[in-house]
Amino acid sequence: MSVPSEVVARAPGKVNLALVVGPLRRDGYHELVNVFHAVSLTDDVAARLADDVTVTVDGAHAERVPCDGSNLAVRAARLLAERAGVTDGVQLHITKHIPVAGGMAGGSADAAAALLACDALWQTGMSKEDLHALAAELGSDVPFALVGGTAVGTGRGEQLTSALARGEYEWVVAVSDAGLSTPAVYAELDRLREGRPVAVPRVPDGLMEALRSGDAHALGESLHNDLQPAACSLVPALERTLEIGREYGALGALVSGSGPSVAFLVRDHEQALDISVALTASGVADDVRRARGPVTGARLL
Ligand code: C5P
Repeated sequence: MSVPSEVVARAPGKVNLALVVGPLRRDGYHELVNVFHAVSLTDDVAARLADDVTVTVDGAHAERVPCDGSNLAVRAARLLAERAGVTDGVQLHITKHIPVAGGMAGGSADAAAALLACDALWQTGMSKEDLHALAAELGSDVPFALVGGTAVGTGRGEQLTSALARGEYEWVVAVSDAGLSTPAVYAELDRLREGRPVAVPRVPDGLMEALRSGDAHALGESLHNDLQPAACSLVPALERTLEIGREYGALGALVSGSGPSVAFLVRDHEQALDISVALTASGVADDVRRARGPVTGARLL
């Protein structure tokens, strides 16, 4: 087989249909039940053979993405090279469409796409299971970016079971330039909960039934995010963003992951337009995006 000179992989961002945060573990992570839903906001990662591992980034807020060794795509490439015994380098180029630091797992998507692209470029022959294990080492949300669809994550979010889900859902996403650090939001949640017992996390009632029956109204009612009060405490303007969705009759509204992106589940195209216009006119959102889900996980183009 001839060696490709360039490989491009695409991976999706996510919204969390439910993010239920349990007790803080000894390793610094929280026990989670995380119902992931991959949406049609995607990043592309192009990979070309090179001597070293480097990365460049373009797209919205590309300047906020680090281009050094802390970049999750670079870490993915280095980890794969190390484990597969590859001595080649790679020049990575990321084209971003997923909001940066928005709680939609954009960095995790880049890591998943980089794993796939480098695996194909270097022809490592790694199994799917091996790639999944590397993904889990890179971050709690990276395995889901490989798998996509709708899935339940347990442990720190990395142990996945795909969910029986029917139907397609339409989303409006309010993007905020505020940017939130995931560890800071978890720390704020711990602060807000201090002194209170924390239950073992479980999937909210009605959520899996809603997904099985493809009932968007029922799904909207069972959306839940334990990190939402913490994100709103750090960025109080998010309360107003959520309120606008409710005023315009969104089926559901919640902060996505650790925020500050806010996801609105909408009935149809018309309602998506109404909410998008209201969000833009109110000035609460720095950008408004439309998305549908579920979509597939990382794949080669
Ligand atoms: O796994 P990942 O590197 O994406 O996690 C980023 C941060 O989010 C962790 O360092 C931790 O502060 C927080 N986190 C957590 N519990 C989880 C997942 C993430 O506290 N289950």
